[in-house]
Amino acid sequence: MAPEEPKLRRTAADWEERYVDGDTPWDTGMVDPALRELVEAGCLKPCRAIEFGCGTGTNAVYLAQHGFAVTGVDYSQLAIEQARHKAAAAGVAIAWQAGDLAEFAAPAEPFELLFDRGCYHCMRRAGLLAAYQAAVGRLLTSGARIVILAGNSDDTQEGGPPKVSAADLCGDFQKLCRIESLAAHRFEDLGGKPGPLAWKLVMTRR
Ligand SMILES: C[S@@+](CC[C@H](N)C(=O)[O-])C[C@H]1O[C@@H](n2cnc3c(N)ncnc32)[C@H](O)[C@@H]1O
Repeated sequence: MAPEEPKLRRTAADWEERYVDGDTPWDTGMVDPALRELVEAGCLKPCRAIEFGCGTGTNAVYLAQHGFAVTGVDYSQLAIEQARHKAAAAGVAIAWQAGDLAEFAAPAEPFELLFDRGCYHCMRRAGLLAAYQAAVGRLLTSGARIVILAGNSDDTQEGGPPKVSAADLCGDFQKLCRIESLAAHRFEDLGGKPGPLAWKLVMTRR
């Protein structure tokens, strides 16, 4: 088992500050290749989708452009404001919500897809795993697909995103979800360069 990283509790204000300061290395402006592949291969079909921790909305906009009815939630007001501009420029309608996804009320019709690039691992490291799991249980319908991209503890480089082992990742979701696939992935850095080692986890909500 990988050694536990120290808890790093970031508040909504901390995240806002990072967007205000432009300290957002994850915000490449490029659609994540893992999401693109799943959509282009027809593994994810248009449906009611939510992105947890959507940041400035690049992946949410991509999903909307491909026929998904998208809701994007993020702590940061500024990120959501930028996401709104991105969606307007792309001519797509997205329901944006600035706030804590742990407090996001269950919709009348639960979501059929959850996409998450980098939010799960942050909430886990902040000691908020139970809140994350509760949101998955509350907001998604049975049979919903879940795609999570998270830092990989096999990465030997210091720094970078929070890292999770395969065993911990599977353990966090095995009660709530059926795991379809778990594969190594890479977050890209600015300019599309291969960046930190990651996981691509695809699951179905039980
Ligand atoms: C590493 S960033 C990734 C952003 C985006 N998914 C991307 O790929 O550009 C993690 C994001 O999760 C958001 N976040 C973390 N905890 C959250 C929470 N409890 N509720 C809503 N957003 C949260 C942060 O504000 C931040 O934008």
